[in-house]
Amino acid sequence: MTVAFTIAVAGKGGVGKSTLSALLVREMSSRSGKVVLAVDADPNSNLGEKLGVAVERTIGDLREDLLKRSEELAGGGSKHEAVMYHLRLAMVEGREFDLVTMGRSEGRGCYCYINNLLRTYLDDVMDDYPYVVIDNEAGMEHLSRRTCRRMDVLLVVSDATTVGLTTAGRILTLAREMELDIGAAVLIINRVRGELPPALRDAVPQGFSSVVLIPHDPAVEELAASGGPLSRLPPDSPAVNAVRGLARELK
Ligand SMILES: Nc1ncnc2c1ncn2[C@@H]1O[C@H](COP(=O)(O)OP(=O)(O)OP(=O)(O)O)[C@@H](O)[C@H]1O
Ligand SMILES: [Mg+2]
Repeated sequence: MTVAFTIAVAGKGGVGKSTLSALLVREMSSRSGKVVLAVDADPNSNLGEKLGVAVERTIGDLREDLLKRSEELAGGGSKHEAVMYHLRLAMVEGREFDLVTMGRSEGRGCYCYINNLLRTYLDDVMDDYPYVVIDNEAGMEHLSRRTCRRMDVLLVVSDATTVGLTTAGRILTLAREMELDIGAAVLIINRVRGELPPALRDAVPQGFSSVVLIPHDPAVEELAASGGPLSRLPPDSPAVNAVRGLARELK
């Protein structure tokens, strides 16, 4: 069995994690000619919108359904079929990518059994793909809860400010402290206008294996304002070009 090359995108709120995830999904797919698995792990999901697909069901919804049936599932039998059937319902399947949206779950039941079950199945599903791109919620603490899966690449996104860069450094430190299994850690400085000013160059935190800049791109902002998918960006847009360069560096 092959193991998917997993790219996790992290960073503080509003720095461009979902934008980068969506652009990277498309780029990895066009480079490999394969269907990429996109995972929206932010409870406040919007990766579907950026990828231009409608999400009708989330893993959170699925969890509620499975909870109602947990006794039946614990009995074994057709558990595999039942879980896989539901999991497929919570996936949007496309030509370049499949999308699974984790969503949130509002219930108060005991989800341990269901969560473990889902984690196992999701891990299995992931390995059907050559590449997995995970768009995470802001911060880092949740990563340890969600999965103990290896991340071949951790992309920590920062805005082009000294405060942002300091936060990105802290996120990497936290990831190391949690002993997450990370291959390479890459710092992404997003929305850079022109050259990186010397003050920012000096503030780049230690510990990343490389630093990649993504320019500020007004077309990205316009699409976000209108809720349009990033596929509408022209192929030579500055952000798309930068992500193409990043993808080349990753694998
Ligand atoms: N390179 C860029 N140029 C211009 N605008 C950008 C760029 N990258 C992101 N943006 C804009 O910044 C805003 C935040 O981006 P995005 O939603 O991707 O961030 P996020 O880190 O996923 O946020 P959240 O923490 O809320 O999930 C959006 O309006 C997006 O269009
Ligand atoms: Mg986001």
